[in-house]
Amino acid sequence: MSSIAPSAPLAPPAPRPRIVLRHHWLVRLTHWLNALAIITLLMTGLNIFGAHPRLYWGNAGSVDQRERVWLEIGASPPWRQPSGWLDVNGTRIPTTGLLGVSKTPSGGTNVVAFPHWATLPAMRDLATARTWHFFAAWALILNGLAWLLYGLLSGRLWREILPSARQLAPGHLWHDIVEHARLRFPKGEAALSYEVLQRLAYAGVTLVLIPTVILTGLAMSPGMDAAWPWLDQLWGGRQSARSVHFLAMAGIAGFLILHLVLVILSGPIRQIGAMITGRMTVGGDK
Ligand code: HEM
Repeated sequence: MSSIAPSAPLAPPAPRPRIVLRHHWLVRLTHWLNALAIITLLMTGLNIFGAHPRLYWGNAGSVDQRERVWLEIGASPPWRQPSGWLDVNGTRIPTTGLLGVSKTPSGGTNVVAFPHWATLPAMRDLATARTWHFFAAWALILNGLAWLLYGLLSGRLWREILPSARQLAPGHLWHDIVEHARLRFPKGEAALSYEVLQRLAYAGVTLVLIPTVILTGLAMSPGMDAAWPWLDQLWGGRQSARSVHFLAMAGIAGFLILHLVLVILSGPIRQIGAMITGRMTVGGDK
């Protein structure tokens, strides 16, 4: 007599891999133009800062108003072998090799706020740096407005960028923090939408830091100042606007470093590929 062995329960078949449209062309185009504009702004901004490497609070600032200085990058003698430093509110940190004193491309000593590899142009050239800075600033403004308008009209801003109330619940937030700390990133269908920390970072940079850098930049423009005197008073004066401009820029630079680290850790080929082609494969083991 033949007996039929009870069959083991079958595991559900893995969903077949399929290709989905992950990023609309406008999101991709504005993302890469934005990256180019921001990197140009950061590097030309560091060159411009080198012309007067001090930050003040209030309306005016000059070498005679040391009481208003809160941040300064400088160099001290002996001039045959100078030492570079960063001074924040009276606390001086030695920074030779990076800030204040660094190497020229040919290995000589350069007394300059930021090293040549961090600035655009690489040598001191305030006029060129300003021209490129203002060009990139208008590119950033127009590009950002296109991204914002598309996000508002399509509803993508709420669906994809701003965190939902469910995502902001403390339990969910904590879960996402733990997952990030364990370097475990969403896979499959879950990778088709941003998680809460990613949304907070994207919303913070696009809706807070970039608008702050634009408004403080406009507040420093003499033309804008004449047309809208309230603009620099909004920040507590022209020099305060310059300080906030620098701090917001530092926040954007911090975001950029973290963003690149996370893209690399979470699968650079798949993520960057999707940001270039728009397409992503999900299902199977993806
Ligand atoms: C300063 C420059 C950058 C800024 C401000 C920035 C900002 C952003 C923002 C706001 C998003 C969300 C876009 C959206 O969905 O509308 C995003 C996504 C993304 N960015 Fe950047 N980005 C920058 C540079 C870069 C660079 C240099 C790379 C890679 C080499 C990169 C790779 C990506 C990828 C792969 C995504 C999609 C992530 C995902 O789908 O999980 N970004 N970026």
